Amino acid sequence: MTGPAPGAYPPGMNDHPLDALVRPHLDRLVAFRRDLHRHPELKYEEHRTAGKVEEALKAAGYETRRCAGTGVIADAGPPGPRTALRGDMDALPLEERNGFDHRSTVPGRMHACGHDGHTTILLGTALALASRGGTLRRGVRFLFQPAEEGGAGAKRMVEEGALDGVERIFGMHNWPIFPVGTVGVRPGPMMAAAALFEMKVVGRGGHGSQPQEAKDPILAAAQVVTLAQALVSRETHPLKPAVVTFGTIHGGTATNIIPDFVTLSGTIRTLDDAQADRLGARVEEVARGVCGAFGLSVEFRYHRYYPVTSNHPEEAALVARVGEELFGKGAVSGEQLPTMGAEDFSYFLQKVPGAYYFLGGSAPGRTNAMCHSTEYDFNDDLLLPAIRMYLRLVEA
Ligand code: NI
Repeated sequence: MTGPAPGAYPPGMNDHPLDALVRPHLDRLVAFRRDLHRHPELKYEEHRTAGKVEEALKAAGYETRRCAGTGVIADAGPPGPRTALRGDMDALPLEERNGFDHRSTVPGRMHACGHDGHTTILLGTALALASRGGTLRRGVRFLFQPAEEGGAGAKRMVEEGALDGVERIFGMHNWPIFPVGTVGVRPGPMMAAAALFEMKVVGRGGHGSQPQEAKDPILAAAQVVTLAQALVSRETHPLKPAVVTFGTIHGGTATNIIPDFVTLSGTIRTLDDAQADRLGARVEEVARGVCGAFGLSVEFRYHRYYPVTSNHPEEAALVARVGEELFGKGAVSGEQLPTMGAEDFSYFLQKVPGAYYFLGGSAPGRTNAMCHSTEYDFNDDLLLPAIRMYLRLVEA
C-alpha cells in the first residue's frame, strides 16, 4: 500500500524549500514506515529493522556501522564536530487492535509508540541529505537506536562511543495529542526520572476467623499504599512534580485465609534525580515503619532507571526558533509542560548539549490514540514536517 500522492500532504501545510529534498522519497518512506509497522521487534531484537535501515542507507551511498547490538550509525558531511540526530526503533509487547492493512503481523507485538515513524523520519533525513551531496557545511550523525522501551539502548550507545565527535544532539517524539505542524519544547526537564520499587510484606498466615493468631500482611500492605501517597502530598514541595504509583498488589488465595505475604510494586517519577532517590528511600521507610509496627517484615528493592531528560537551554531555544520559522509562531510552545513519562534520550543529554522535543501527530478524521494504546498508529503526515525540522536543525 502506498501513501497519499506526493504534494498532497500534510493537508494545509505550507510548502518549504527544504521539502524539495524530501518529496521525491515520500512515497517510499510511507511504505517503509508501514512495513516496519507490520514487523514490530522488541528491544535488542530489532534485527530485521536494523537490516532494512542499513540496506536503505547503503543504497543511498552511506557507510554504516553497528552499535549496541542492533543499533545502526551513519555519518554525513565533512569530518569535525557533528550534530547527531536520533531515531528509536523498538516496538512494544502489546496486541494491536487496529484493522488496517499495515497492522502488526506479529501476535503480542506492536509499534504502539511510533518508533516505526521515528526510524523512518531519521532515514528520510539521511536520504534527503544524501541528495545534497557534499554541500553540507557541518557533519551529521544518524543514530538508529535500539531498546528505548526499558532497555536503555541510548546508554549502551553512549558507552560504545556513539557520541564520539558529536557536539550536540537532537531527538523528537511524535505527540498524538497535538496537531501535525506543532512543536513542544522547553529548556530544562522535558521528561521525568523513572524508578521502580518492588516489595514483599511478610507476615504470618492463618485462619481468617482467628486474626489474633496471625500477622496480617493484607492490612499492612493496605496501610503502606495509603501512607505512601502522603509522601507526595505532605513531604514534597508543591511546585516540584512527583508521582508515586502502585501498579501491582497481589496476596491471598481464599476468603477465609490470612496469607503469609503480599507483594506490591510501583513506579516513582520526578523531574529531579535527587528527588527520585529521596522518594524511593521514603517509600521503603514507610513500608518498614508500618510493617514493623504490626510485627511484620519487608523485603524491598528499589531501582532507578532513566534519569531526567533535561534540555540544554541554547538547543531548546534553537528548536523553538526553527519550529516558529518552519510552522509559524502560533505552532510552537517553547514552554511545553514536561511529562512524567521517561526517555532514555536523557543519557545522550548527559553527555552532550542538545534538546528533545515533541511534534504534534493528530489530525481530523484519525482516532489520534495516545502512544502505548492498542489503537495507536503513527501519523504518516508527520514524516514531511519532522524531516523538514531535522534538516533545518542540522544547518541552523
Ligand atoms: Ni516512544
